[in-house]
Amino acid sequence: MSTQPVEGCQRKENWGSRIGVVLAVAGSAVGLGNFLRFPGQAVNNGGGAFMIPYILSFLLVGIPIAWCEWTIGRLGGRYGQNNAPGIMFAIWRRSPAKLLGALALLVPVVIYMYYILLEAWCLDYAIHFATGRFDHLFAETTRNASGHADQIKAVVGATRDFFHTNCGLKAHGSLLAGGRMIWVVLFSFLVNFVIIYRGVTKGIESFCKWAMPLLILCAIVILVRVLTLPHISAGLGFMWNPDWARLRDAKVWLAAAGQIFFSLSVGFGLILVYASYLRENDDVVLTSLSASSTNEFCEVILGGMIVVPAAFLFLGAAGAKGGTFDLGFITVPAIMHFMPLGRLFGAMWFGLLFLAAVTSSLSMLQPAIAFLEDGFGLRRRASVAVLGLVTAIGAAFTMYFSKGALALDHTDFWCNLFMIVAATGMVLMFGWVIGAERGVEEMNRGADFRVPRFMPVLLRYVTPAFLVAILVAWTWQTAPSHLERMNPDKQARIAARAVYAGVVKKHYAGRKLAKKEMEQKTAALLGAEKDAAIDAAKLPAWLADATVAGGHGKELSVAEAAARRAAEARSDANIARYVFLGIVAFLILLYVLADIACRTRIGRSIRRVEDEGIAWEAAK
Ligand code: PFF
Repeated sequence: MSTQPVEGCQRKENWGSRIGVVLAVAGSAVGLGNFLRFPGQAVNNGGGAFMIPYILSFLLVGIPIAWCEWTIGRLGGRYGQNNAPGIMFAIWRRSPAKLLGALALLVPVVIYMYYILLEAWCLDYAIHFATGRFDHLFAETTRNASGHADQIKAVVGATRDFFHTNCGLKAHGSLLAGGRMIWVVLFSFLVNFVIIYRGVTKGIESFCKWAMPLLILCAIVILVRVLTLPHISAGLGFMWNPDWARLRDAKVWLAAAGQIFFSLSVGFGLILVYASYLRENDDVVLTSLSASSTNEFCEVILGGMIVVPAAFLFLGAAGAKGGTFDLGFITVPAIMHFMPLGRLFGAMWFGLLFLAAVTSSLSMLQPAIAFLEDGFGLRRRASVAVLGLVTAIGAAFTMYFSKGALALDHTDFWCNLFMIVAATGMVLMFGWVIGAERGVEEMNRGADFRVPRFMPVLLRYVTPAFLVAILVAWTWQTAPSHLERMNPDKQARIAARAVYAGVVKKHYAGRKLAKKEMEQKTAALLGAEKDAAIDAAKLPAWLADATVAGGHGKELSVAEAAARRAAEARSDANIARYVFLGIVAFLILLYVLADIACRTRIGRSIRRVEDEGIAWEAAK
């Protein structure tokens, strides 16, 4: 392999050690998805039965795509490319390769724009536990609660209120106006950019080398604490009792595949870039498996046995079922109130989540840094500054439109879609452009053991088919409701009707009507469709003249309240549109930049490498 510098694109760095690269990639994979998302998904999707589609997805999608990505990345590194467009273009000199490269830049950077918020929340919670502020909050809220059930209610109510206020979920702009959270976000930003500025070996690798063992150690300590709680077997039973009937539900299969994707963070460019810092004959097969296994250990063993069993033990079945946010930021703090030494364990838990989040977010920044440096010859300082500015603008947007986590939610939705598209593109490129047999040969070069013989068939047919099926099913299931949320007129009508429906419900409250009867009455007055337009002239007087609480102790006429809610809903739908348009515009910009770079700097450096006779013969 050449060690001569190639203009603008010479390989500047290599990983310092095998364990370093494994920990860096595992660091990217291990994150909030392991400790919060996974338990939520498993407990809501059949418990132990969830593991069947989960393991199948791991074998059919997770491991094969990870191997493809590692191989393509290492190959790109041979051409002096550490950036996704360059890596793809070196292997396939066509426009779709640049588009795939642009996608692989887009997804991580956009995820960073909201992930940094979650990261900051974790840090903020850790600080609250460490400084005893949660203890104080609990002491205040439980003062008047008598009996265990009352205590649970008071504590969960307090943590819910704390989460909604502290994390800006109640109103747009509240996070920016509130003061403290901005500093926590800024600090988290700074931590990321300082590490990135130090480079792959001195920054990312050194950080992950101590952060990963430390966070795993903390998680093991907490796991031991949880497993030694009296009656914990009931909690474990609640989490893992298989509900086999759920396997007939397609949603469960989709959830399992989605979890594998999110958790391993494979297929959309992170591993591509990390693998490009490998040397030509460094093993990719075992290295990839080691990183994936570390992720699975953290997910199934550590993530699967802490939160939900403990929540069941202290809060009961109702408290133990929840989505990622509820489980993470409402349930866990509540558990800590009931657990002996809860303050210490709370600080430790959120501290480890913060570390896990940082090791993930670092991996979202490196692809863009590498692109700015390789593609445009920017120095480290300039590339860090440019990326800092771009991500700060995106994060400020997500932070400002924080009511109900609106911007975060929409951004996450589109990222999930683009993630699967990028992964499908990557595996198709591997199987059909490079050629599965050739690709697998390259995969096996320098490997500590060879991949199974059926791998080419799997990569050419099975994995892409599985991915396309996921893509279609996922789009089918989620796209209609999501598109509806982007329709301002419709959202305005739904919101207005809901206000009137509330009045109708209150009006008939005394009669104790069955749900169906209630629906019929509402439909007769307001129209059957949930987005029916309200014709005020046709309403009975009791409804048209009703008043509703408008907040701050004010009463509003129902028409006024409906108009207000409609305006809010309209603006939320517009924000959803801006998120989508913003992401698409960003993708186009990245494609144009990738195109320019491939025509100039990146193209020249690839040709230089080829002229030196280093080219991989399949790359034509
Ligand atoms: N894999 C990470 C987790 O399980 O939390 C999340 C993640 C990291 C998603 C990096 C996307 C990404 F680019």
